[in-house]
Amino acid sequence: MTLHAPIVGAPVSRVDGPDKVTGRARYAAEFALDNLAFAALVLATVPAGRIRSIDASRAEARPGVIAVLHHGNAPRLPYNTMRQRPQVDPKSGEQLRVFQDDRVHFNGQPVAVVVASTQEEADLAAALVEVAYEADPPETGFDPARGRQPTTQTQRGGRPGDTARGDADRALAAAPVTVDARYVQAREHHNAIEPHATIALWEGERLTLFDKTQWPDNDRKEIAHIFGIPEDRIRVVAPFIGGAFGSALRTWPHVTIAALAARVAGRPVRVELTRRELYVSIGFRPHTEQRVALGAEPDGRLTAIIHEATGQTAGYEEYAEVTLDPSRNLYACPNVRSTYRLVDMNTNSPCPMRAPGTVTGVLALEIAMDELAVALGLDPVELRLRNHAERDEHKNLPWSSKALRECYRQAAERFGWSRRDPTPRSMRDGHHLVGYGMATAVYPAHRAKASARATVYANGTALIQAAGADMGPGTYTSMAQVAAQTLGLPVERVQVELGDTNLPDAPVHGGSITMASLGSAVQAACQALRTDLRRAAEAAPRPLDPQAPYETLLGALDLDRVAAEASSAPGNESQTFSSAAFGAVFVEVRVDEELGTVRVPRMVGAYDVGTVVNPKTARSQCIGGMVQGLGMALLEKADWDERVGRVMNANLAEYLVPVCADIGTLDVTFVESQDTILNPLGVKGVAEIALCGVAPAIVNAIHHATGRRIREVPIFPEAVMAR
Ligand code: MOS
Repeated sequence: MTLHAPIVGAPVSRVDGPDKVTGRARYAAEFALDNLAFAALVLATVPAGRIRSIDASRAEARPGVIAVLHHGNAPRLPYNTMRQRPQVDPKSGEQLRVFQDDRVHFNGQPVAVVVASTQEEADLAAALVEVAYEADPPETGFDPARGRQPTTQTQRGGRPGDTARGDADRALAAAPVTVDARYVQAREHHNAIEPHATIALWEGERLTLFDKTQWPDNDRKEIAHIFGIPEDRIRVVAPFIGGAFGSALRTWPHVTIAALAARVAGRPVRVELTRRELYVSIGFRPHTEQRVALGAEPDGRLTAIIHEATGQTAGYEEYAEVTLDPSRNLYACPNVRSTYRLVDMNTNSPCPMRAPGTVTGVLALEIAMDELAVALGLDPVELRLRNHAERDEHKNLPWSSKALRECYRQAAERFGWSRRDPTPRSMRDGHHLVGYGMATAVYPAHRAKASARATVYANGTALIQAAGADMGPGTYTSMAQVAAQTLGLPVERVQVELGDTNLPDAPVHGGSITMASLGSAVQAACQALRTDLRRAAEAAPRPLDPQAPYETLLGALDLDRVAAEASSAPGNESQTFSSAAFGAVFVEVRVDEELGTVRVPRMVGAYDVGTVVNPKTARSQCIGGMVQGLGMALLEKADWDERVGRVMNANLAEYLVPVCADIGTLDVTFVESQDTILNPLGVKGVAEIALCGVAPAIVNAIHHATGRRIREVPIFPEAVMAR
């Protein structure tokens, strides 16, 4: 085994790229099973109440229709309680149970499903199902005054209602310089390229699910509990995911519907959600209103932070976010108080969406910090440096690594921050007002237990296998790199198989933990394989050189393959250290004074994310975060109709997302960083940090350009023009 140039750290192109661009990669809806039947959902048209009657006779009479299922005829499912709720599920309330009773919890709830031989037949018949409702007065408005404490279970799950250190209210009252303002973050939807889809196939008592999921192992576990069958009778297959951002963390009701429908139909059934159904069948980022109050000394040192957030949740289930975490630990401050409240509504349940909670909290905090810099007459970067947190003051722990100062320095330099005239409305180019803005980014770094199997074959190739998913960040590629480096093979000789519960257990593919978790397991499996092989070589009748190529070694040992499986888990480092990825984002905006339009010609981000396994895919993560952050700042908003409890723009024509023409130059730098306290690879995770900080930097740049402080995102031209 010769050592090659370092593969970890090399900009390897995606190993699954050719499969994706040639269509060989198969996504959940694309498994063309024999005898496949198709499902169409019937959705509730009232936000609250009961189903009085369902008349499916016209639908049932249509050609091709195999079954129409609803609460009046669907098999009862046990929905067994799980001993411990999966970490991706809310800790309080109850998941939506499909077709088990006549209750309507929200507009868009599935109340029936039609199964037919073709999708068109199913769609047509679904339109003929007649449902009558007894409507109840709904709670469809978001009124922060209705905000309530999270339940005890939610609080114990890391979403406390109130936290405090010092006395923030007193410190704020005594502070010589203060800002105190309210911020609004719109309800956003994931809108991944691939819609959610599930194909369910029963073979006797065995169930196979081809599903869009970020956590195949948990998908299997949840369906096992819902149907009351042993986990080992279920297989979940999810080799490719066309983007998810958190929408595929949980096992949503349509997965149960697919399995239920397939069982009744006696045929495999596909449920593929339409774009419109994606707005009610999976979750979304909750509308959140926040107050941030900051108190500071004239030199900029923070003396008080008060952060109050109120988010929306479903009435049947309590989804809560970590919105307040950034205010508790991003800056040094002796007096911090935070308050979290929830408003129950007749809506489908919100769910994590890239950097859930954190990005919302960072938005408010980082706009408030910019307002404080203006109030102090201090440079925004300098204000942040003066409040740099040398340790996590909330947990009272040292950071396992932190290179945030370096992020500010490198990003400011690449951006040309020194050319900024601090006076608002002072920089102009023709009829464009030019603004420079910046913000800090932070996202916690975690790690979970994971397993992987490594196999080396006599022809000198290797196979890496794990149940974990790849929703698009490049997990196939980065795992191949870790394996290639550890095994001493070129990356072309390493094959990776993911997304199948038949493979070794893997944790959720979310929370930016995949590289730290699964990457460490892949490394451990490859190391175990090498150890086994070395021992075998040394124990051979004629001792062999353990450094010989695999072909030679396996040939001499008369083996066609060697395999090793290993697990890797966190130790107790989270009790002695706080871990997070950091970053600094700088943006330039150009505001058309006559039209109120905002363009973002360039963004510069520098990130402290630990070891960068693949700078090419990591950069893609970061520019993706910049694009998504631009959407958050300027475009993405679900327009909620309070009268009917429904998103009005539930489609990609009216819900705006950035397109190529919206995007200028995106500049990404990774500062020198490694966190071997967190895991042996030294990685901290890339995905979610890249979204944090982008939207507030844009908001701050718009203030700098126009002198107008806008505290609600997205910022449409009418807000820029408002007098
Ligand atoms: Mo991410 S919200 O953990 O997919």
